[in-house]
Amino acid sequence: MVDKEVKWTRKDLLGLRDLSAEEIKLVLDTAKSFHEVSLRAVKKVPALRGRTVANLFFEPSTRTRISFELAEKRLSADTIHVAHATASFVKGETLKDAVRNIEALQLNIVVMRHSSSGAPHRLAHNIKASIINAGDGINEHPTQALLDMFTIREKKGALKGLNVSFVGDILHSRVARSNIWGLTKMGANVTVCGPKTLLPPGLSDMGVRVTTRLADAVKDADVINLLRIQMERQEEPFFPSVREYATAYQINRDILKKAKEDVIIMHPGPVNRGIEITSDVVDGPYSVILNQVTNGLAVRMAVLYLISGIPQVSTTEEVT
Ligand code: CP
Repeated sequence: MVDKEVKWTRKDLLGLRDLSAEEIKLVLDTAKSFHEVSLRAVKKVPALRGRTVANLFFEPSTRTRISFELAEKRLSADTIHVAHATASFVKGETLKDAVRNIEALQLNIVVMRHSSSGAPHRLAHNIKASIINAGDGINEHPTQALLDMFTIREKKGALKGLNVSFVGDILHSRVARSNIWGLTKMGANVTVCGPKTLLPPGLSDMGVRVTTRLADAVKDADVINLLRIQMERQEEPFFPSVREYATAYQINRDILKKAKEDVIIMHPGPVNRGIEITSDVVDGPYSVILNQVTNGLAVRMAVLYLISGIPQVSTTEEVT
């Protein structure tokens, strides 16, 4: 049951850095109700009937885009989809002008993915519509972290006291950043692991254990969440070769012999089989990667539902 004491009061969901543990719990509990709806014969509810949601994806996405689109349909919302390649941004239109057009169409909610960290925040301060951050640069990916936490809670029963390790390209990972904010607030013990060049400064200040040794991250972990190497964000290579990276940091059957028997393996996708993880582990018994995708639907329904209940007010901050 959802805790009746805690109410959602935010117009936008921009990141987990801003949320309290109680707000995170509210989203996860609400998602549990929507997960149950997804098991019914009739999976559609009228919660967002009459509301319009725009999906603005200015960076490639498979899982997040499809999951939001399905969540909106299941909630009976009207939807609009704008991909960067088909938008007028390629003709030089600015975010500011796009905002004006969004206002003119009287949209209720904008789901936005952007390659620039902070782009959804700028939009949120300038329009009445609610903004849901679907991933901004290397900053945050709040709904991914919420679905990760939902999956951990589903498999392990709770988050408090669990040992959760992130392995891979922490430097460029908005998924890691949102998970660190969220999991530490929920009482989990977070470890991050990767080559020194892919571990940003300031991680210890975020309350996490930092290691460059994979064995340290695997031993005692209840959850291992793997992050792919984001080649598209690296102008210069951060390690000698992909093969050397895989030798030191790949999760495979051998390294899992050092893990707890009931460890679960997570990955936000897209997976690079044979680099950060071997195919047999992706498809093996420890993997909950497809559960994450399934749970993303319930979590995004919950976020859309909670945000749709907030009255929309205008703000005046200037968009640059
Ligand atoms: N996890 C994730 O954000 O995947 P997509 O890039 O496919 O949306």
